[in-house]
Amino acid sequence: MPIDQGWKKATGSVMLTEKKIEDQGPLKPTGWLVRISETFAGLTPQILEGLGGTESSPRLGSEYHVLPAAAGETWRRTEAARFVRWNLPVHHSWPCRPPKIENFVERAAQALARKFAAHHPQTVLTGPLLPVAGTDYYKSLASNLRGRVLQLFPPLAVKGQEAESQNPEAPTLFVLVGKAGLFAGIQSPREANGFYPGGTKFISQSTPGTISRAGAKIAEALHHLLLHRPALPEDSHWLELGASPGGMTAELLARGHRVTAVDRAWMDPRLDRSRKLDFVHVDASEFQPPPGARYDALLSDMNGGAQHSMTLVLRFIRSLKPGGLVVFTLKLPEAASVPDITDIAGRVIRQAATGGLSLISWTHLSYNRQEFTLFLERL
Ligand SMILES: C[S@@+](CC[C@H](N)C(=O)[O-])C[C@H]1O[C@@H](n2cnc3c(N)ncnc32)[C@H](O)[C@@H]1O
Repeated sequence: MPIDQGWKKATGSVMLTEKKIEDQGPLKPTGWLVRISETFAGLTPQILEGLGGTESSPRLGSEYHVLPAAAGETWRRTEAARFVRWNLPVHHSWPCRPPKIENFVERAAQALARKFAAHHPQTVLTGPLLPVAGTDYYKSLASNLRGRVLQLFPPLAVKGQEAESQNPEAPTLFVLVGKAGLFAGIQSPREANGFYPGGTKFISQSTPGTISRAGAKIAEALHHLLLHRPALPEDSHWLELGASPGGMTAELLARGHRVTAVDRAWMDPRLDRSRKLDFVHVDASEFQPPPGARYDALLSDMNGGAQHSMTLVLRFIRSLKPGGLVVFTLKLPEAASVPDITDIAGRVIRQAATGGLSLISWTHLSYNRQEFTLFLERL
């Protein structure tokens, strides 16, 4: 169906039928929206400078900043890019105070459809710009906006709310709204580093019966991993180093996985009856996998120095299946500077590569504190 026709049919709006959707050529960003976690607030001026922005780069809410268009895509190759949790080329912006704009949703939706329908995003996802409590107004504004945009666009490949059903490599139109206005751009979820506007899905840490808050961290990590590879099948066997008290273990077991958990501290007794859990109360430096053990994945959330933890992980490389996954929490010293952090991270990644693990992805999750989560696989 020609785009014009689809447009008229979809909108049924007198005003819009006069507008023709035409391919206006490649979209050019007027800047880059980058999200830097508040955990690194003290380092943000250094990070922005490293990305090619400046301390005076506009700040939108607590975690979003705009890099100038001149930074181009080169920011991705800088060391500071490690700190960017999510990003978006700004192909369209409407700086305004949404509550003060009459018919904001209708006007915003029409502008988005005019600008982006010809670019055939797989879907349109909208979200609030401020990832903090009290954003109910912007959440519902974003949701209303999505509803109206979906009416205006020609049929999209992904219509439902399930952001994970997107193709991670296909372009998506992401739209953020907040106190500073509306920002939109087209990019694949993988390039953006998240399926959702702003990053990952919100996973609550306070479900009754939660053993430790780390459960939400591995849930979010596994959600992030879908950007790069399919989910591990049920019954996959994990070796977990530094498992106590067992928040992550409980999450893996809840997914039907088998877990061999190793820690020098004890596990929460609520896990005692899990048939798929084998707990070994020993230091990871002393643990010997049973002969012939072949793990599908290894998880390390051990505290202590990052390089020492990686040394312990690499002890088990031969027990990991080829292509096997490693999820590794890279703990960082408090008060480390940007060069210190990139230096530690670089060493750990080189150490992993020498030991036979290649990096799939690297991110800062909502539940990461002074640490990153690394995803690697056995070569
Ligand atoms: C942050 S906690 C892990 C929390 C856990 N992931 C959860 O979900 O509840 C770190 C754990 O690593 C363990 N650990 C640190 N170094 C270790 C080592 N060399 N061998 C075994 N356990 C270690 C500590 O005993 C501690 O229980």
